[in-house]
Amino acid sequence: MRTLWIAGCGSEIAKALIEHWQSPNQGQGQGKSQHQTVRVISSGRGPDSAASVHCQTDTREPHSVSELQAFIRREGTPDAVIVCNGILHNPQNGPEKSLQELGADWLQHSLQSNVISHIHTAQALAPFIKRDSQLRWLSLSAMVGSISDNQLGGWYSYRMSKAALNMFIKNLSIEWQRKAPQCLVAAVHPGTTNTSLSAPFQQNIAAGKLYTPQQTAQRISDVLLNLQPEQHGHLLHWDGRVLPY
Ligand SMILES: NC(=O)c1ccc[n+]([C@@H]2O[C@H](COP(=O)([O-])OP(=O)(O)OC[C@H]3O[C@@H](n4cnc5c(N)ncnc54)[C@H](OP(=O)(O)O)[C@@H]3O)[C@@H](O)[C@H]2O)c1
Repeated sequence: MRTLWIAGCGSEIAKALIEHWQSPNQGQGQGKSQHQTVRVISSGRGPDSAASVHCQTDTREPHSVSELQAFIRREGTPDAVIVCNGILHNPQNGPEKSLQELGADWLQHSLQSNVISHIHTAQALAPFIKRDSQLRWLSLSAMVGSISDNQLGGWYSYRMSKAALNMFIKNLSIEWQRKAPQCLVAAVHPGTTNTSLSAPFQQNIAAGKLYTPQQTAQRISDVLLNLQPEQHGHLLHWDGRVLPY
């Protein structure tokens, strides 16, 4: 892997991923380790990033596709992409406890961040994928987007938008493997990580089950490096296990 693209780089997990890959021991995990230098590029809404080069663009919007394509033409096609965009709450809205709390505006907003931003990122990259590409793609999803694992209900907009993201990843894996048989595409559940996304919901988390962004970055990097054909098109746990959709 020569170039890694971290999309949605304003996310706290994304920042830890950039730090992880830019540190001197980058890419070394429990599985295969890679000692070569990896160039990290990023995209996100904010103007700044710790990555070597950055494209400021809002991937919830369609114009981001052409802006990202100009960026890829300039910087070269990445060998791997991790898309971190996602939203669970904002100052006005939180996860719904009941049907009555579910509103079209917040559902639409959730779909923009949790699904559309991943779609626009993939659309930007698609024309650059050649038949011999060995591209690796991970979209950060969530276990609560698993339909068969849903025992508790609630969190309508987040669950529905992550389930839609999982279906997008399944479709993308089929289309891109026809185009480039060696490419690998998966969604990954990062585990509950101590970021502003999970902050209001951490009181019920069992001891030892809340991870630092650095732990999560290490685990997602291991998943990326060890990605296998049998994981292609699946939702993966942070340890690489295939989770039910
Ligand atoms: N934390 C968890 O426990 C957990 C659990 C399961 C799944 N996940 C998933 O993992 C992904 C990353 O989560 P996270 O915990 O790292 O979330 P986060 O820090 O809240 O970031 C999520 C998104 O919000 C935007 N953002 C955050 N801070 C920003 C800022 N200061 N300015 C502008 N934009 C900002 C970023 O998009 P832009 O860069 O495009 O602006 C980013 O992609 C999400 O898809 C989430 O659903 C997280």
